[in-house]
Amino acid sequence: MQTGILALLGKTVTLMENLGFLWLVHTGFELDLWKLLQQERSKEELLELNPEWDPILFDHWLEQAKIQGLILQTDSKYSLTRIGKAVDFYRDFGLEAMYKEFVLYWGAIFAELPNRITTQVSPVQMESEMENELISKASRASEHFAWPLLKAKCEKEHWRRILDVGCGEGIYLRKLIEEFPKVQGVGVDVNSSVVERARLLAKPFEDRLQFNCLNILDQDAPVEKYDCCLLNNNLYYFSTEQRIELIEQIKTWLVPGGWIGILTALRGENSSIPFIQTHIPQNLMSFFLACHKGFEGLPYKQEVRNLLQDSGFREIEVIPLPLKVSHYFFART
Ligand SMILES: C[S@@+](CC[C@H](N)C(=O)[O-])C[C@H]1O[C@@H](n2cnc3c(N)ncnc32)[C@H](O)[C@@H]1O
Repeated sequence: MQTGILALLGKTVTLMENLGFLWLVHTGFELDLWKLLQQERSKEELLELNPEWDPILFDHWLEQAKIQGLILQTDSKYSLTRIGKAVDFYRDFGLEAMYKEFVLYWGAIFAELPNRITTQVSPVQMESEMENELISKASRASEHFAWPLLKAKCEKEHWRRILDVGCGEGIYLRKLIEEFPKVQGVGVDVNSSVVERARLLAKPFEDRLQFNCLNILDQDAPVEKYDCCLLNNNLYYFSTEQRIELIEQIKTWLVPGGWIGILTALRGENSSIPFIQTHIPQNLMSFFLACHKGFEGLPYKQEVRNLLQDSGFREIEVIPLPLKVSHYFFART
């Protein structure tokens, strides 16, 4: 058999396996199976708890989850494997939102790709569930890696006043406020439902943390300048021209020697882990974003460097996060 055909067969089988993994994990979240299987249970016990479930389909789910290494079967009882436990653990760290995005939205967007490329279908408005909820939740996937860097930087540079642009639910500001008693934060986000959630979550810190709902491109100069401005997981919301405008604007809002921190996924970056040698995920994310109205996709590393350099920032540091899925750029005025 030709090697091309063998490689194609291999890819196709892997594709089926990966699609299976996606659907299994997503269904497990929707039906709360990752929680239920924290405890060893038989199929019969699980069906007793959920008498309305289809036993044939559920049997297939169990079989597939076992084949995919997500659950174990000992005699008639099922429990989670390490990877199954990790699925449950990372549920609220962006995993559930990310898988929901893939299942509900990526398929629909890419199904229309021929018509999109030939411009028979125009770029679409991003779905409101994606815009209001899933994107900001999915971006928590980089939190475990990004937080230690941000914490160390804040400590070293003695930041006091921090502006978080496109703050989403304000996770990073909240963590900074909790960690450093002298820090004061302002979060800005254009999406009112996201800001509502941010305010609610930050209630215990409201004397030091404030959230404003506005488009950062309409933001006036602050009365008091900031020591640091964060742009986490949102550079891709802005067009090339807006990126330039925004970074130049931010520079004027910082104290002399003040810092900018840009956390972003990049196009064309290979993973640093030998068994995940691919830049496909980021590039595919960029591709997905670019199918939407007002989105151009993810930036390249050089583009972010140029943006900072051309706006007069110096001491540019580029820190790849593990897996190189995202990078943190730090620079000062
Ligand atoms: C992926 S979320 C990231 C949230 C948060 N920074 C994080 O890393 O977890 C991007 C956020 O940027 C916000 N955003 C996009 N364009 C904006 C603009 N022009 N002004 C203010 N916020 C904006 C979106 O509403 C969204 O909540």
